[in-house]
Amino acid sequence: MCGIVGILGRHQVAPIILDALRRLEYRGYDSAGIATVNEGRLDRRRALGKLVNLSDHLVHEPLPGKAGIGHTRWATHGAPTVVNAHPHRAGRVAVVHNGIIENFRALRAELAAAGLAHESDTDTETVAVLTRHHLDQGLGPAEAAFATLARLEGAFALAFLFDGEDDLMVGARQGSPLAVGHGTGEMYLGSDALALAPLTDRITYLEEGDRVVITRDGALITDAQGRRANRPVTTVRLDQATVDKAGHRHFMAKEIAEQPAVLGAALGFHCSPDKTALALPEDLDFTNTDRLTLVACGTGHYAAQVAKYWFESLAGLPCETDIASEYRYRHPVVGAANMAVFISQSGETADTLAALRHVRARIGCSVGVVNVPSSSIARESDVALPVLAGPEISVASTKAFTAQLLVLLLMALKAGQDRGHLDGAQVAAHLRALQTLPGLMRAALDREPAIADLAQGLAGVNHALFLGRGPMFPLAAEAALKLKELSYIHAEGYASGELKHGPIALIDETMPVVVLAPRDGLFAKTVSNMQEVLARQGRVVLISDRAGLAEAGPVPDSLVMPEVPDLLAPFVYAVPAQLLAYHAALARGTDVDQPRNLAKSVTVE
Ligand code: G6P
Repeated sequence: MCGIVGILGRHQVAPIILDALRRLEYRGYDSAGIATVNEGRLDRRRALGKLVNLSDHLVHEPLPGKAGIGHTRWATHGAPTVVNAHPHRAGRVAVVHNGIIENFRALRAELAAAGLAHESDTDTETVAVLTRHHLDQGLGPAEAAFATLARLEGAFALAFLFDGEDDLMVGARQGSPLAVGHGTGEMYLGSDALALAPLTDRITYLEEGDRVVITRDGALITDAQGRRANRPVTTVRLDQATVDKAGHRHFMAKEIAEQPAVLGAALGFHCSPDKTALALPEDLDFTNTDRLTLVACGTGHYAAQVAKYWFESLAGLPCETDIASEYRYRHPVVGAANMAVFISQSGETADTLAALRHVRARIGCSVGVVNVPSSSIARESDVALPVLAGPEISVASTKAFTAQLLVLLLMALKAGQDRGHLDGAQVAAHLRALQTLPGLMRAALDREPAIADLAQGLAGVNHALFLGRGPMFPLAAEAALKLKELSYIHAEGYASGELKHGPIALIDETMPVVVLAPRDGLFAKTVSNMQEVLARQGRVVLISDRAGLAEAGPVPDSLVMPEVPDLLAPFVYAVPAQLLAYHAALARGTDVDQPRNLAKSVTVE
């Protein structure tokens, strides 16, 4: 949550910071602000709402200066208002923050007793006021920031800028990500490498507890114990072209359309050159694994739930799934024969990262299935598996979901082989089937006009139900999540067999019941449940293939999908789930890429 950026540059930084904040807006968009130092003078501009408002404000009141920090906010403490927007300033210091300062109330009381007032409701302002207090006591800027950092509890990425100092910035990372960018005669700070992509590809990722003092000449990093730390400078590959809309109206539309290419490329990467064998890392070894736990949040959790079916059926491996925010506070019974997989697009989700740290020392093997290869979860897991979806900008996850599914399916095949449930020939046969996946995804995408028509019918309702059985059950939940996120329609995903145990009471002639039912082994069962809805005048939308629709008989609405092998259905049926939500949102006029109240990277718990 919240994106931060800092630049010690050679040019006027406000427009460059604004541009970098645009690439961080996926982290939050309640309000935004920039502070600069110009000829030694610290000043700031802040605006409520999206970045465009800050941009307008800067046209009327420009902010000169070649040193600056910027922030785009997702409110935690204090409503989205201008007063609560970052940067927070107290005397000679301005601060931007991502995270939560858990002991801010105690610090605030202490500062109030010393006669130092706050003007906002935020936890962040306390960081600024405390630093001011240290400056007033005679400490130098970096020392004052360090003295403040020593008092903070909670999670934070912070950047400090000081009046009178136009070649100095202090950064700190504890629980929230922060990267240092190296330019030529310029230095940068950013929540991620994406923010800094057009400025530099040379990045140093700070470790937990690191503090950094930055000048235009370089960065001095110290670790949590105050010792000088040598962190490597890595070259990241982020093509600018991958972070624009490529002619699509929204990032989400672009990302949905990219799925055939993404899955084709990921398959190539994780398989042998002749595509007959897996090419997953050696240390991903299921031979002695007797239990698997899949942990994630949001869409990643539904990918986990789909994969559970695969690990059980393909590898006979006991498998459980969990929501990271629950898992991290439970007392999971784990040991050397267990493996835990942490699935995260960003690789920075606070709960998923905390869940990994919760068991890492006690478990046989921890695996990160991530989209951002340089992320904390990737770096802290025993084995990191990239899903290779490329930058995903739209807040609602689409291509990362199907890319996660692919890696999890390949892992299940590996587990099957390692455990003697599958031989090489069976794995090769599955991989052959997987080669058809990009084409099947394209065929599903070709149904977009029909899906857009169905979405018109969804756009006017207040409630919707999605039903599925087997791996289609988590997919129904994912479809419901997409619809609520994007169009604010209340939707639920249910296991078809559970219909009778409650949701059937909701059925009337107004609420759409979307049934995801490829003609697989469970088809007849799902159709029986659908008949129960039809018998009560329910508004069924059946999504199935030609054979399934013929067998099911007449329904009010339907969508013809391509025929798919059972194993590939969750990928292919994800397309109508995504496009239904996308087109319903278009029809309702909601903000597709940045739905209200959400943020893409949830770095606070
Ligand atoms: C947020 C996003 C979701 C995402 C979830 C988990 O809620 O809006 O799209 O699924 O976080 O994020 P992660 O980066 O860990 O996959």
